[in-house]
Formats: sequence, C-alpha cells, structure tokens
Amino acid sequence: MTATDRHFLDLDTINANDLRSIINHAKELKNGKIVPNRPLAGKALAMIFEKPSTRTRVSFEVGMKQLGGDVVVLNNSDLQTGRGESIADTARVLSRYVDCIMMRTFGREKIAEMAEFATVPVINGLTNSSHPCQLLADIMAFEEHLGPIEGKTVAWSGDGNNMASSWIHAAVKFNFNLRIACPAEHSPDTALFDWAKKNNSSVEMYEDPVEAVTGADCVVTDTWTSMGDGKENPHNRLAAYQVDKKLMSQASPNAIFMHCLPAHRGEEVTGEVIDGPQSVVWDEAENRLHTQKAILLWCLK
Ligand code: CP
Ligand code: NVA
Repeated sequence: MTATDRHFLDLDTINANDLRSIINHAKELKNGKIVPNRPLAGKALAMIFEKPSTRTRVSFEVGMKQLGGDVVVLNNSDLQTGRGESIADTARVLSRYVDCIMMRTFGREKIAEMAEFATVPVINGLTNSSHPCQLLADIMAFEEHLGPIEGKTVAWSGDGNNMASSWIHAAVKFNFNLRIACPAEHSPDTALFDWAKKNNSSVEMYEDPVEAVTGADCVVTDTWTSMGDGKENPHNRLAAYQVDKKLMSQASPNAIFMHCLPAHRGEEVTGEVIDGPQSVVWDEAENRLHTQKAILLWCLK
C-alpha cells in the first residue's frame, strides 16, 4: 500500500474495518493502554487552514507532538495559493517537505486536488461538504456513553450541513439508524440518501423534528450558519428544529445530546440542553485529540 492509499478524505471512501480500527485505537490511546514511544519522531504534518478552527487545529498539533512529530501551520494568507499558485503545485512541493497534509477548506474539489497531486497522505479537516475527523470523535463519545452504536438510532435536528452529510456516511459505515430532520430546502444532498439506500442503510429524512427524535438514543445538531455558507441561514426556518428540553424529552430517557461545537446557545440548542446532564459535547471535543492521533498513525503507518 502506498502513502497515497492512506488519504483520510471522507468516511464513504474508507473501508469500514479501517474506520473501526481507528476508533478502537483511539480508545486504547485514551485509556492509556498504549503509550506510544514517539512513533512519529522525525515526521512532519502541514496543516492548511482556509477557515478558522479551535479544536481541529489544537488537537492535531498537540496530538502530532505527543506522537513525537512536528507541525507546520499555514493560513491561506501565508501561502502562495493566495496569489494564484495552484493547489496541485502546492501539493507537489509540500510533499517534498512533510509526511502528511491536513487541509480545512471550502469546496471538496480543493481537497480532492490536493490528494490527487500530493505524494503523502492528505487529511480532510472539514470542507463545505463534510467533516469526517469529527465523526470519529463523535462515534467514540457515543460508544463511551451508550455502548456499540450498531443498531442504535441517532436523530439530527437542524441545518442539513457538512456535519449532517458526514453523519450519513457514518450511519452506513457503522450500521446505525439515522433520522435527519430539517426543512426540505436545507436537506443534505439527496444523492447521499440514495447512496445510503443502495448500501441497505436506514437513513431517513423528516420534516418534523419530534417525529425524528422520538425514541432516539442520541440527538445531534450543529450551527445554523456554517463557515462558507456565504450568508446567514434564515433562522426563522430553522427555529422549529432547535434542540430544547421539550424536544430532548421525546428521545429515549437515557439519550445523549451531541454537538461538534462551536455552539450558539439560544439558536440551534438551548443552554439548558447543551449544559445539561444529557450533553456529552466536552467528551466529543476531548476525543478529537485521541482520534486525530489514531488517524495520523493510520495515515503514516
Ligand atoms: N468541531 C470543530 O471542528 O471545531 P473547530 O472548528 O474549532 O476546529
Ligand atoms: N458546520 C460547521 C462545523 C464547524 C466545526 C461549519 O462548517 O462551520
């Protein structure tokens, strides 16, 4: 297997066994069962940020350093891409200096171009279309609280954004039921529902959040306006999808609440829910560190 077979671009393109082994490895790293002896010493990771980040940036940087490696952080204004150098040439050049490239950008075609021309593994640190790294941390947090996710039911209520799309990928790869409640005009790409169906998965679209959440093991939401949306989403259309105590009470009595963060209390979720006893958002955030390390080790194995 060559380095470029180890791109971490999207969950739908990675083998389910590999995804499961990355999560299991992250659990072992978190529990201190494995204390790696600087396995990435001498390796460097370049991180390109065309959008802001707190969690992704810090967890990759700290994770890489804990594994003995080095990090170079590049904002768009630092790079010649800002003056017209192509992503293809940037990929070729960076590949001569570093062992792995993490990129957070706008269109998915940009990260696809980076992966096509890089000769080192490329990791998707979020695009307008997906956020695969976050999902591994989320599945890990789910399982820490409720056991194996296979066969369980997750309900999404809110904007059908990049996170919702990655939840669809995850539902197929980890074999759980996913109900997505959002206004039709905010739906994830319908091709994703077709793909899930073709893969015999239970991924259903709902307009009514109560129907979607009823009996669910987990309720998830995310910001109403994502980075790269261009303009604010009309909040009045999404207001009915806010996760408040009343909506949470429709879920299973021991249901958990998830949010990838950053959150906007009073918009997609009330403070009462995100700061309440069912919320596991800080575990999700912590798990970014453990899953980033497992992803890096998978890419650089
Ligand atoms: N959840 C997440 O990716 O957060 P950041 O935007 O802070 O990286
Ligand atoms: N949907 C959000 C996720 C942030 C981590 C965004 O793309 O801005």
